[in-house]
Amino acid sequence: MKYRGWLIYNGGMKTAKFLEIHDWYIRTARKYQIDLMALSNDELFIGIENGQRLIVSHNTRPDFVLFLDKDIRLAEHLLEWGVPIFNSPETIAICDNKIQMHQQLAKANLPQPLTIFAPMLFSQIKQPNAQFLTYVEKSLSYPLVIKEAYGSFGQQVYLIENRQQLETKAKELIHRPHLFQEYIRSSHGKDVRLHVVGNQVVASMQRVSKADFRANVTNGGEMFTVDPSQEFIDLAIAASKAVGADFSGVDLLYGNHGQPLICEVNSNAHIKNIYQCTGIDVSAFIFEYILAKVQGRS
Ligand SMILES: Nc1ncnc2c1ncn2[C@@H]1O[C@H](COP(=O)(O)OP(=O)(O)O)[C@@H](O)[C@H]1O
Ligand SMILES: [Mg+2]
Repeated sequence: MKYRGWLIYNGGMKTAKFLEIHDWYIRTARKYQIDLMALSNDELFIGIENGQRLIVSHNTRPDFVLFLDKDIRLAEHLLEWGVPIFNSPETIAICDNKIQMHQQLAKANLPQPLTIFAPMLFSQIKQPNAQFLTYVEKSLSYPLVIKEAYGSFGQQVYLIENRQQLETKAKELIHRPHLFQEYIRSSHGKDVRLHVVGNQVVASMQRVSKADFRANVTNGGEMFTVDPSQEFIDLAIAASKAVGADFSGVDLLYGNHGQPLICEVNSNAHIKNIYQCTGIDVSAFIFEYILAKVQGRS
């Protein structure tokens, strides 16, 4: 083997579902002469000694790290150690928090639904500000969408139909970062997931749910192959670039004229559903991309 890589995953993800994905990456890596070792974030002990960054365990440095976890401190530590990390800690941090992600996309002036961020309040505050909620309902009208900043599989995304529901959910989330968003009716129960690697969309699928406004497959959405228009492709690549991703899964909504709107960018997109839908192995594109970087070809 010519190269050594680490695949970092979360210690809480030792289920068969995740181990299967790690084995998949390891098998693909082998085809590229990469000896890839899967390590959970709680197997690597990191810290500071004598005022200096210190990696306690595994002190032979790999050529790169494929970082499938969200433990940003660890990613930063490894980067400081001089190891190229894919995706970068900055990108993982931005994508982990939907508020930061929307702010970053706005810097690049990319189309997104109208979005209002909830204020961060100290713990003695028990009620959301009524005037703020009035502003939210006037700006977005019902139904509207609430999303927790940290969430996945559609599980922390809520459809709010009236003031009562708005007040209840806003109170429940008062000490968790969250946002309020225009509900895109034209995209009800459907969206497009595009996998971007570098400057390229390598695979896409449409997701459709008959039962829910959220199209997530884990939430009951069905997958269909799709041939996205250039507008969808260009926006997915621009969104991925805006958050500095090496590779990502971009979710696009259908605006009211069929135009794409960015729903979110996932830095840690899963590769199994897209493979089952399209037969495309995104992991091969990822290793080609990483090797080009490691060898200084791009
Ligand atoms: N503003 C919106 N209007 C309509 N549907 C939405 C909106 N935002 C999200 N959705 C639907 O909910 C799903 C989950 O939202 P998303 O922001 O991608 O959260 P998660 O990180 O949990 O996947 C999307 O795939 C989409 O189908
Ligand atoms: Mg999503």
